[in-house]
Amino acid sequence: MIPQTFIQDLLARVDIVDVIERYVPLKRAGANLVACCPFHTEKSPSFTVSPTKQFYHCFGCGAHGTAISFLMEHAGMGFVDAVKELAQAAGMQVPEERLPRARTAEEEGPDLGEMLHRAAQFYRQQLKSAPQAVEYLKGRGLTGEIARVFGIGYAPAGWQNLASVFADYGDKALVTAGLVIQGEEGKRYDRFRDRIMFPIVDTRGRIVGFGGRVLGAGEPKYLNSPETPLFEKGRELYGLFQARKAIRDAGRVLVVEGYMDVVALHQHGIEYAVATLGTATTPVHVHKLMRHADEIVFCFDGDAAGRRAAWRAMENSLAQLADGKQVKFLFLPEGEDPDTFVRSAGRDGLERLIAAAQPLSAFLLNELASRVDRTTPEGRARLLQEAKPLVRQIAAPMLALMLRKSLADLAGLSGQELDREFQIKTTPSAYSAPARPAPPTARSMLRRLIELLLLDPGAAREVDRAALADAAGLPAFDGRELAALSAVAEALAREDSVTSPGELFRGTAHAALVQEIESGLLERQAAGIGPAEARAEFLDGWNNLLEQMRRERLREMTEKLHKHELTPDDKARYMALLKASASLRS
Ligand code: CTP
Ligand code: MN
Repeated sequence: MIPQTFIQDLLARVDIVDVIERYVPLKRAGANLVACCPFHTEKSPSFTVSPTKQFYHCFGCGAHGTAISFLMEHAGMGFVDAVKELAQAAGMQVPEERLPRARTAEEEGPDLGEMLHRAAQFYRQQLKSAPQAVEYLKGRGLTGEIARVFGIGYAPAGWQNLASVFADYGDKALVTAGLVIQGEEGKRYDRFRDRIMFPIVDTRGRIVGFGGRVLGAGEPKYLNSPETPLFEKGRELYGLFQARKAIRDAGRVLVVEGYMDVVALHQHGIEYAVATLGTATTPVHVHKLMRHADEIVFCFDGDAAGRRAAWRAMENSLAQLADGKQVKFLFLPEGEDPDTFVRSAGRDGLERLIAAAQPLSAFLLNELASRVDRTTPEGRARLLQEAKPLVRQIAAPMLALMLRKSLADLAGLSGQELDREFQIKTTPSAYSAPARPAPPTARSMLRRLIELLLLDPGAAREVDRAALADAAGLPAFDGRELAALSAVAEALAREDSVTSPGELFRGTAHAALVQEIESGLLERQAAGIGPAEARAEFLDGWNNLLEQMRRERLREMTEKLHKHELTPDDKARYMALLKASASLRS
């Protein structure tokens, strides 16, 4: 792990303009520099680099980040390489990753990543002296070359092979890393035995877990690492690291279900494939994929289970959709999976299916329509009822509108009638004139506070996170924003000096919101304010927020009171709130 303090120091020293200019010629435009976006095709420049804020943002495709992200996304470097490259240019020494200097075990814990890395090395090495494993892989048509690309290895049979890798086999960290199982009566043994090993790598190229397949028959067929501090199944995608460049080149990512599928596809020239890890596709997966490509194609088996899995993926994509992004579904002929299909039909055969994949809207409508009898009013009513919660989740305005239009047609209603049923407020012209961009909504107080913290990180110490946590669940506040404000305050208060807040949140749940707020700042830069003004406005806003949270809590309690739902605890709290607000008013 490279310490965050180093990253921040580094970003304070390098100039993002120099970094980007080596790849993309920039033109001055007011306080910023602009160019045609290197991440998507465009005729007029919407790619903007802010020298004061040291980040780039594309108003066209949403690409956004620091000098580090630029090297990762544009030059295809891994995180560590990007940091090293910048450090070298800035004449800084990257702190040793392998053997971090004086740090106490309690402070940062053992280096689980290092353990997984060493285990992977061992498994790879073991593969060389395991003819039966090599035979198995060959039998499945894999070349040695592709096994290297994916770091495939072999965990030998036997209970404690890892004792030859780690001096202290009793180290509890081996259990935490998911490599060793602590059995009854304190017996310890290797989790993976006599299995083909697929390392699972995160987007920075670090190993976070493993999948292990039995050779031939046996149960379970695949064994995965358990969830560990490094590995959360619902966040990682197998093969994404290897596929990044191909995804960017193709503008598309193919999502399949299996390890072997990804590897076989890659070998047959479809290098833009990734797999979920034995779990359903999550919103986090979709969000992650959208950052890499404009088009996501989910590939499932053609059977009932495949359709169910596709439906889940569709539901989990809705809230992530943006206009300009496409999600599609592709079903393979029954009895085939991507691995077998690409072997028999080849790359061209599969790419023909990909080209004919069903757009999300068509999949959604077809599935719904097939579940009801549209010749009866009852059937049409059910269609609408089932569609309503789905359509209302779609964040992309154009797509949502189109879908409502098709749905209205299917149900035999006019667009306005449908919107009334769905309680969607549209202007009367929404169906006759091209959709206009929504008027800017009043940005919430919480967002403004986050924005002010980004302008003046020192104010983070004023934030009472307990008060924020306490307000969670009140309907007047957006839970995501409350959590983000709390997380931003915590992170900023922890670091001594922060140059690039965005970098602190890379890969966390708050990355998207922070990025959105950062880019909003860029757009409204003309109205820029200095840290002192930011501090004053922050303190003001924070006190208002506290007061508003108290008021909302009070309102909630009063409602409960009216419904005779106050518990004794509530009552004590209610009294305290009443007193506090009375003293504020007087
Ligand atoms: N999987 C799992 N645990 C299992 C079975 C499957 O985690 N017991 C996950 C794995 O990620 C696997 C994927 O689900 O790659 C698909 O499983 P399946 O279709 O059964 O296997 P294939 O990918 O076809 O595997 P193979 O071709 O090696 O038989
Ligand atoms: Mn298979």
